[in-house]
Amino acid sequence: MSETRLLICGASFNQEERDRLSAAFPAAYISGPDEMAGLDNGLRSGVRAVAYKGHKPFGGAEMDLFPQLGVIANYGVGYDAIDVDAASARSIGVTNTPDVLSDDVADLAVALMIAQARTMIRGHAHVASGRWAKEGEMPLNRQVTGSTVGIVGLGRIGREIADRLAAFKMDIHYHSRSEKETPGWTYHADVVSLAEAVDFLVIALVGGPETRQYVSRAAIDALGPRGVVVNISRGTTVDEGALLDALEEGRIAGAGLDVYENEPNIDPRFLKLENVVLQPHQGSGSVETRRAMAELQLANVAAFIEGKPLVTPVN
Ligand code: 8YV
Repeated sequence: MSETRLLICGASFNQEERDRLSAAFPAAYISGPDEMAGLDNGLRSGVRAVAYKGHKPFGGAEMDLFPQLGVIANYGVGYDAIDVDAASARSIGVTNTPDVLSDDVADLAVALMIAQARTMIRGHAHVASGRWAKEGEMPLNRQVTGSTVGIVGLGRIGREIADRLAAFKMDIHYHSRSEKETPGWTYHADVVSLAEAVDFLVIALVGGPETRQYVSRAAIDALGPRGVVVNISRGTTVDEGALLDALEEGRIAGAGLDVYENEPNIDPRFLKLENVVLQPHQGSGSVETRRAMAELQLANVAAFIEGKPLVTPVN
């Protein structure tokens, strides 16, 4: 039987992460689930754990290629790429990396709001191009402090965002499956009523089929001409076509986005817009947080191999 216990799967693992995993267990590396079927039979039969990173689908057919597979340890809090029901049906545990990234993702959400409202990208270009000296001040922009924000999804990350925005003296509204205990924030039972009530709509939902286009065309229309959509969750959580229509037609004020339906080949309509701030899905992308995520992933693999309870199980 093969010595390989761990399969490291994902083109976005960096060398340090791969080395750390390989030092802990006899490991093989592939760049994505589409390479699993091509692996040698002997190697596949030894694999007990997959350390996964990425957003390509990892389903039951792939799981069936590894008869001894007991855990899929995901690098990331969102595990929508992994078919968790298929894993559960095969008694395969799935783990993720919650909490350690919440601060970074919340920081980026606030940064997107401020960058969009205060036209910071245009401001940078105004200075760097020399236009400031030649043409003078750029047009005035818009105040963030004191405005009204709606958080869609008040989970770990949503709450971190709300806590930060409370410090910006914002009037905080939210929508989630049920009303939560808050310091007086306003609950909305549906996302359209939330959008109607606020200027900034920040999406902090989990991804997956249940939240697909949860922020609907009706919700985007309800935001109105001062509305700004901020999304740090998954591109799938918003009706992207409706968002693009509203941005192109000026029916909402703008958007600050870290996530898209098709990454990294995002809809080219985004590239023509001047009322957006676009980031390359880098919410958790600080050195410190990515290291903490990698360590938590490894801790989950180690717990499984050593027969201990998983640290952050999903199923
Ligand atoms: C990814 C993320 O993990 O945690 C998540 O859900 O989306 C990110 O932090 C990262 O892009 C690596 O795939």
